[in-house]
Amino acid sequence: MGMPILSLTEAELRNRTSLKWRTYDPDVLPLWVAEMDVAMHPAVADAVAAAARNGDTGYPHGRDYAEAFAAMAQATWGLELAPPQIRQSGDVMNGILAVLSVTSAPGDAVVINPPIYPPFRQVISGYGRRIVEVPLTDGARLDLPALEAALADRPAAYLLCSPHNPHGTVHTAEELATVAGLCAEYGVQLVVDEIHARLVDPGVRFVSALSVPGGENAIVVTSAGKAWNLAAFKAGLIIGGADAGSVLRRLPPLALQAMGHWAAIAHTAAMRHAQEWVDEVSSEIAANKRLLARLLEEHLPGTVYRPGEGTYLAWVDCSALGLDDPARAFLERGRVAFSPGVNFSSDHRQWVRINLATSPEFVTEAVRRMAATLG
Ligand SMILES: Cc1ncc(COP(=O)(O)O)c(C=O)c1O
Repeated sequence: MGMPILSLTEAELRNRTSLKWRTYDPDVLPLWVAEMDVAMHPAVADAVAAAARNGDTGYPHGRDYAEAFAAMAQATWGLELAPPQIRQSGDVMNGILAVLSVTSAPGDAVVINPPIYPPFRQVISGYGRRIVEVPLTDGARLDLPALEAALADRPAAYLLCSPHNPHGTVHTAEELATVAGLCAEYGVQLVVDEIHARLVDPGVRFVSALSVPGGENAIVVTSAGKAWNLAAFKAGLIIGGADAGSVLRRLPPLALQAMGHWAAIAHTAAMRHAQEWVDEVSSEIAANKRLLARLLEEHLPGTVYRPGEGTYLAWVDCSALGLDDPARAFLERGRVAFSPGVNFSSDHRQWVRINLATSPEFVTEAVRRMAATLG
């Protein structure tokens, strides 16, 4: 076995100029926004470098990204996708916006499951739609009875995060079939963000909403942006279930022209050449989850962390620590940056989201800084 993927040093990472690394002072350890502390996969780096050498800086042509994704979905999940089911788009959130723009009208309701990735609220309320909240249960599962009640009111759409950010919950085939069935019954458009799908712990089975009964009407939006750390390359895919063609055909034309050529090149190379890499990184992330759980128990008793099976995110309840604003205290006194829980739900002011796509050394140092905050 070679070097772990999650082994970049602070000296290497401090050269980065992206959001994660430049928002806070240089003495702050940043474990917040969903960027990974990884080097580019060599196949992705080579593909982008070749484009640079060739001056290949024009518009995208063809459907390589869609085809590479379909091949991955078939090989990884046994999911068969026909070419007309897949559209290429600018990125995931703009893909979701495009879908909601043709499946809902201003004033319409859209269901979400807080605590939730903050842009889910922005893509609904920022465009004149109304948020209906059906929180996850205390065990971080979908609350099926509450969802049934909300869907029976016939909202325009249900925007589901699968796996869930921030909890990391991987929804089961049964849960997905239940919600897909309810959406079909009440005429609600199911829109599923599966951007974290390839980031699940070893042995955990991810199930796409497109593969469950009722999923024929669903729309999935996804990309290689998260699992391969390609946020710098804006591209995404909008995928319709077998009976969702009418939604795909109504998508706004510009939404389907927003992908950049280099983004398509990078995402395609990741899909084609970096599947083992993402499995390896997932197992390193699973080890970081175990490490974090052990360190929190040892150094911050009272905190509650139940690792989710998906994503590289840890959602930690700090209520027992007696801090007014835990994320702020950790940042200002501990010099470690996490995402504040309040960004995900107003009921979660005492929670923080920790980004574990980093080295075990950083995870250890982060907990040391959390403990020092209390010190
Ligand atoms: C659930 C979820 N959806 C979408 C995104 C962002 O994707 P994009 O940059 O393609 O809009 C993220 C990024 O963290 C995410 O966690």
